[in-house]
Amino acid sequence: MTYTPFRIAVLISGRGSNLQALIAAQQQGRLGGEIVLVASNRRAAAGLLRAEEAGIETLTLDPAAHADRAAYDAALFARVAAARPDLIVLAGFMRILDPAAIAPWVGRMVNVHPSLLPRYPGLHTHQRALEAGDALHGASVHFVTAELDGGPVIAQAEIAVRAEDTAESLAERLLPREHKLLVASVRALAQGRVRWHAGRVELDGVPLNAPLQLASDGELHDRDKPGAT
Ligand code: GRF
Repeated sequence: MTYTPFRIAVLISGRGSNLQALIAAQQQGRLGGEIVLVASNRRAAAGLLRAEEAGIETLTLDPAAHADRAAYDAALFARVAAARPDLIVLAGFMRILDPAAIAPWVGRMVNVHPSLLPRYPGLHTHQRALEAGDALHGASVHFVTAELDGGPVIAQAEIAVRAEDTAESLAERLLPREHKLLVASVRALAQGRVRWHAGRVELDGVPLNAPLQLASDGELHDRDKPGAT
């Protein structure tokens, strides 16, 4: 029997620490899939170097070389599609996507976002959580739909907000949790345990009532069910 890996394309714009977490998990056999392409809208994205060091194919496409967002996104997603991914991961990809580019990938594209969605879609999430006086902050992995940061949430990682926190300290404390959250979510998707069905997230064929939670063991847990998932 031939082994067919679960193919993953990752889109980035910058640092690429989430990408690095995915690469490390793959190298340690914990990802359940293979990153076949890393694409960026910025040539200077440090994440591209991380991918190259890991021997992963990279691609940079400059938005300035395209007429408009629709033309850029069509070109980008044509190139990404050519890599035949089973899943596209937006890992710090800092562009709003054209709905026409998203449509064919609904249910097969996820994003990691630094807030407990539906709170704080968009930018400056840490500052907004502080200003609202939230006791809990966190990160979410969600399916991408045409609504910005608005698709069904697969899983979340929570952290407690401390009295002395700044936006920077929150971001710093959240980031390692975010990395674990993304790896665990991609693994669950690669294993086929988590799926999109009819606009909802299913775990093992059962629609989720609430996002899965990242536990301290790095695994995702279903709040509705005691024990590990
Ligand atoms: C992360 O905080 C991610 O949630 C947000 O952008 C940041 C990207 O960081 N969308 P990195 O490039 O993965 O280091």
